[in-house]
Amino acid sequence: MTETEHERRYAAVVVAAGRGERAGSPEDGPKQYRLLGGRPVLRAALDPFLKDGRIGRIVVVTHKDDDALFQGVLSTIADKTRLVQVHGGATRQQSVLAGLNALESSDATHVLIHDAARPFLSASLIDRIDAAFAEGADAVLPAVAVPDTLKRASGGHVSSTVSREALFAAQTPQGFRFAPILQAHRRAAAEGRADFTDDCAIAEAVGVAVRIVEGDIANSKITTARDLEMANRLAEAAALPDIRTGNGYDVHRLVPGTGVTLCGIRLPHDQALSGHSDADVGLHALTDALLATCGAGDIGDHFPPSDEKWKGAASRVFVSHAVAIVAEAGGTIMNADISLIAEAPRIGPHRTAMREAMADMLGIDIERCSVKATTNEQLGFVGRREGIAAFATATVLYRRRQQ
Ligand code: CTP
Ligand code: MG
Repeated sequence: MTETEHERRYAAVVVAAGRGERAGSPEDGPKQYRLLGGRPVLRAALDPFLKDGRIGRIVVVTHKDDDALFQGVLSTIADKTRLVQVHGGATRQQSVLAGLNALESSDATHVLIHDAARPFLSASLIDRIDAAFAEGADAVLPAVAVPDTLKRASGGHVSSTVSREALFAAQTPQGFRFAPILQAHRRAAAEGRADFTDDCAIAEAVGVAVRIVEGDIANSKITTARDLEMANRLAEAAALPDIRTGNGYDVHRLVPGTGVTLCGIRLPHDQALSGHSDADVGLHALTDALLATCGAGDIGDHFPPSDEKWKGAASRVFVSHAVAIVAEAGGTIMNADISLIAEAPRIGPHRTAMREAMADMLGIDIERCSVKATTNEQLGFVGRREGIAAFATATVLYRRRQQ
């Protein structure tokens, strides 16, 4: 064969017109539009084709009742120029033919036909199919060896054991030279044969040699509700963790007095912090940092200084409230760090007690709680002992919620 005969211009047909009856719960809609880690199954199935520069036109075959659902999928795709939508038929075979017909006027030499219900197709599997075509294959089937011992049974009783040697489970995408598969599909339709469950069977029926390449266990088809649940777990595990950081800042004025409360610990001092509550700048900054991780406003929104209820309140109440808000939003606190900026009193001797108090309030290990302190080198209001300031940072891991 010459180089030009090996030249391949790929198109893809992704069939998504099924009703997903075996996946159950019709009120949740067809399985290809259900969410996997926050993304519709069909969107995930299209992704490897959208990302693959070798593939030109991508035909998505949808059900006529699903136009609104499909618009939702389209809205998550920035570059739609290669996408074509057509409506499918009552059987998978008819849907594939509708997709192939839509490619008739394209310049595709090869086509990859894929189930929308397989959202875990890898780029390397497409590479293996392409490599087989490069070697001159006419049709390519990704398949996996059957791992289980197979039995033939009827009436609840085994009649024989089937050797699994030479048995493979067929996956998609199945690859074909475009013109012959279009012709084979049309012929099957013209002959009234509607019993083909995959496209290789149609190619086989007209004598096309189908080459097997190694499939991928992960590229399994979502058929039942249980498959969807398992796939969702996989997708969630693969999704980027939802880790959020919040910061907080607070300052309170120093007045004559007998002590200050910082990070939940009472320290004897010749001044006091003035404020509506116990004026614990460290815990106020921490409260804001926690609230910030879930967009829950700031301490003033939750505990208005105008409210008499909070007069003289121990600031751990504010922290506990923020902890509850974070937990309700699905967050797990990973760590928190408070920096105190004060000329006096000396914080060092009380650091461990402060960290213990934090650990207790936040419900996390002490090694995840940090308190640091610095003077302000006698500069500014802190340096003149007019006030104490605090910064805090909190990191929270949020569970992704089902939409
Ligand atoms: N398919 C299609 N048109 C049909 C039937 C199926 O495009 N008339 C598509 C499905 O959307 C799916 C793929 O073919 O992506 C494989 O079919 P299957 O897993 O059987 O999906 P459904 O037919 O939707 O499910 P069920 O058989 O459980 O109803
Ligand atoms: Mg089906």
